[in-house]
Amino acid sequence: MIVVRGLQKAFGETVALAGVDLDVPEGTVLGLLGPNGAGKTTVVRIIATLLVPDAGTAMVAGIDVVADPQRARYAFGLAGQFAAVDGVLTGRENLEMVGQLYGLKRLEARARAAEALERLGLADAADRLVRTYSGGMRRRLDLGASLVGRPKVLLMDEPTTGLDPRTRMELWAFIEDLVRDGTTLLLTTQYLEEADRLANRIAVIDRGTLIAEGTADELKGRIGGDVLEVRVSTAADVARVVELLDGIGTERATADERTQKVRLPVRERVETLLAAARRIDEAGISVDDLGVHRPSLDDVFLSLTGRATESDNEQTPPGPGRRRRKGAA
Ligand SMILES: Nc1ncnc2c1ncn2[C@@H]1O[C@H](COP(=O)(O)OP(=O)(O)OP(=O)(O)O)[C@@H](O)[C@H]1O
Ligand SMILES: [Mg+2]
Repeated sequence: MIVVRGLQKAFGETVALAGVDLDVPEGTVLGLLGPNGAGKTTVVRIIATLLVPDAGTAMVAGIDVVADPQRARYAFGLAGQFAAVDGVLTGRENLEMVGQLYGLKRLEARARAAEALERLGLADAADRLVRTYSGGMRRRLDLGASLVGRPKVLLMDEPTTGLDPRTRMELWAFIEDLVRDGTTLLLTTQYLEEADRLANRIAVIDRGTLIAEGTADELKGRIGGDVLEVRVSTAADVARVVELLDGIGTERATADERTQKVRLPVRERVETLLAAARRIDEAGISVDDLGVHRPSLDDVFLSLTGRATESDNEQTPPGPGRRRRKGAA
């Protein structure tokens, strides 16, 4: 339903996309995962006909979005990164307006708006002005707006960023319903957990280039399963702990002197945790924290690129902006 080939886009000196290919088969979910500035929104905006690429093609339901943007717009719904609903209208008025923009008759627009408000749990607030809505309610209404035209393809740009955990889980359940009903979805996110739960396949993008693609399990497999993390009480003991953990994980442990954390990719959660605790205890080293966690986006990035996500570490250099890193995997 979505086919993207060789997509390139530069903003002045900044290369936002350096040749991206994506495929989203009908009825499936592709999670486009990447840190701030990776190029996720740029991909979505090009597919949504809001931005023209410098090179490459994007097709939605067989329609070339660059050659035929008018027709393409009827093929998808878009829920943007920032809620695009109007604060001086009520929730219901917003959705009825969108329906009419899609060319629906008034009664039909009214019925679909009511249905969307119901499904998104906004029925009680439907007749309040949107400017009295919370951030989460606005995001939900924005999602509702993307559904009024009953698109077969949905584009969602970070649909749950900034939402509280409960609202996020409600939205996940809602998105899963849509997919069960046959909607094809391209979803961007900064959270591996979200991609893990919703996506059939995940494409990891960094600095405008795809650096990995596969199912959640395949990506996790590439980073060796779970991660054991130890926070050592005394900086002087960090190197010692790295030595002590040698041989019990799937790779050698790495240390961050600044945070006094030692990390070790592991496969057997409980066994490795017990072995690590025993060795550290026998050596008489004091630790503040010890645990095993699921890989985070940071872990995926560390493993795929050998560096932490940009938002954590380096700053974009000042001046004419960033160029594409040479030799990206
Ligand atoms: N209109 C624009 N003008 C100039 N530079 C832009 C513009 N839009 C995006 N960029 C740059 O292109 C790169 C990719 O931006 P994009 O918004 O696609 O990232 P993103 O992956 O969506 O990030 P985030 O997670 O922060 O939303 C960034 O370096 C950004 O600064
Ligand atoms: Mg974005």
